[in-house]
Amino acid sequence: TRPQMEEGMGSALRPAACRAKGGAPGFKVAVLGAAGGIGQSLSLLMKMNPLVSVLHLYDVVNTPGVTADVSHMDTSAVVRGFLGPQQLEAALTGMDLVIIPAGLPRKPGMTRDDLFNKNAGIVRALCEGVAKSCPNAIVNLISNPVNSTVPIAAEVFKRAGTYSPKRLLGVTTLDVARANTFVAEVLGVDPKEVNVPVVGGHAGITILPLLSQVSPPCSFTPDEISYLTTRIQNGGTEVVEAKAGAGSATLSMAFAAAKFADACLRGMRGDAGVVECSYVASEVTELPFFATKVRLGRGGAEEIFPLGPLNDFERAGLEKAKKELSESIQKGVSFMSK
Ligand code: NAI
Repeated sequence: TRPQMEEGMGSALRPAACRAKGGAPGFKVAVLGAAGGIGQSLSLLMKMNPLVSVLHLYDVVNTPGVTADVSHMDTSAVVRGFLGPQQLEAALTGMDLVIIPAGLPRKPGMTRDDLFNKNAGIVRALCEGVAKSCPNAIVNLISNPVNSTVPIAAEVFKRAGTYSPKRLLGVTTLDVARANTFVAEVLGVDPKEVNVPVVGGHAGITILPLLSQVSPPCSFTPDEISYLTTRIQNGGTEVVEAKAGAGSATLSMAFAAAKFADACLRGMRGDAGVVECSYVASEVTELPFFATKVRLGRGGAEEIFPLGPLNDFERAGLEKAKKELSESIQKGVSFMSK
């Protein structure tokens, strides 16, 4: 299958040798679900990333328009659009990094788990495509419920014989961005100066901010801890309610996904000391998947850091988080054994 749209018509007017090379050396990145609320902003941000040489935009609707639009940005990455399942293979072939924000978002009153039935099938189909067409690509999975969709993706890759735990990363960066923002507000400092580790998973009580490990070191009153923990855990719901039926977080999520993808690309390039929180296959707890700080390197999550010292409040939160997380993981695995 041919790409839906490739560069502009101008590229046909001169022989290839006379033209500037399309894009600087860099990585090939695909966004699956590129026409969605997250997907469009994320595509814009990835087109701005100098580490990206080729950007493939895939969706089941509207990619011709999004591709035409994004392709007019005068940054290096060459943009190509792909529409519908018959073009998935072409969208994925040769990709180094695949970012997946495809699937339904929440409406008011819904939990992330309410999305399971629809999104589980979408993630399975897209990951089957990855296994077939770019089995060595690193995958950033955004589609909710992340606590279950990452185990689903792992099962797909295991079945296909392509599974490498290091290459499958659930995106929890928005939880960290929210934690940094809300903590900075309480402390009265610039959010850029704050780093809050957020561990566990990506839904309600499974989102566990470690306020005892905030960098730079600081302390909070019990009231502040209670306020911050609740606000960080419910940050997504805050946006869903404010949007009142028009979707969930898309702009802050695209920002967070672009930040995480950039960290992955810097790691893949060989930069030292690239550390982000991510929901990955893990031995940090007895659960098979868990979010902690990971070091990103050439092969993905090269190193998974331990939780570090927790206080009593965090230990109690961890026990509750593990119970829910365990059920969500099981739900993902069971979906694949049907
Ligand atoms: P949206 O509905 O605006 O966009 C989703 C896009 O996925 C649509 O363009 C749709 O056509 C596309 N799509 C559906 N089925 C597809 C398929 N089989 N292949 C390719 N594309 C397909 O939703 P939005 O707001 O962009 O959210 C996307 C997902 O991200 C949702 O599941 C949402 O819950 C999740 N999310 C995750 C966050 C996180 O922190 N990990 C934060 C916010 C949202």
